[in-house]
Amino acid sequence: IDKKQFQNDLIDWFHTEKRDLPWRRTADPYQIWISEIMLQQTRVDTVIPYYKRFVEKFPTLHDLAMADEEVLLKQWEGLGYYSRARNLQAGVREVAEKYGGKVPGSRKEILALKGVGPYTAGAVLSIAYGLPEHAVDGNVMRVLSRILLIDEDIAKPKTRKVFEEAVTALISHEDPSAFNQGLMELGALVCTPTSPKCLLCPVREHCAAFNEGRQHELPVKTKA
Ligand code: ADE
Repeated sequence: IDKKQFQNDLIDWFHTEKRDLPWRRTADPYQIWISEIMLQQTRVDTVIPYYKRFVEKFPTLHDLAMADEEVLLKQWEGLGYYSRARNLQAGVREVAEKYGGKVPGSRKEILALKGVGPYTAGAVLSIAYGLPEHAVDGNVMRVLSRILLIDEDIAKPKTRKVFEEAVTALISHEDPSAFNQGLMELGALVCTPTSPKCLLCPVREHCAAFNEGRQHELPVKTKA
């Protein structure tokens, strides 16, 4: 794979084709954090109105840190997985107390916050802080399994590390945010689970699976 060409093709496509999503209109690490927590188990179309109401109700990290749990859960009602909301508030309170309200900019510190896992850490660090940190979720694993023809079982917990290392080797240091969001957007719009739209793909010339006609075989994912 020609890394520079791959990065350019992905990033250029992202900049021209990206959806206008509300969390792409802010540079606030706190607000980006909220979006990534909501997006973890909930689809984009569902998240949009919740995200908008949530940041209107709690515009700053301080507002969420001080909110009553009852008020918080009321805002979250309908999104499900309510522990996400409680953990988010716990994490926000840690940031308020330990970091004076500024979301930390290192993987180690941000990972230590309640509710922040490797994916959320990398997403916030790359999108809000422009740092070249991997952000690997199921969608990114699907995209990369095809581009790099990685046939490891993505249902196995140990496999994510393989993909994190692959992204680390490929990530753009010029625009880590567009690179990571480009992979996410490609997974959402083009490199879909079934019937990937390879003829519309900006990186198909770099895609090992497409070049072998094997895109439908990937990712390998065991169990129902
Ligand atoms: N899924 C997870 N993070 C996302 C983001 N920042 N934009 C769109 N979809 C996403």
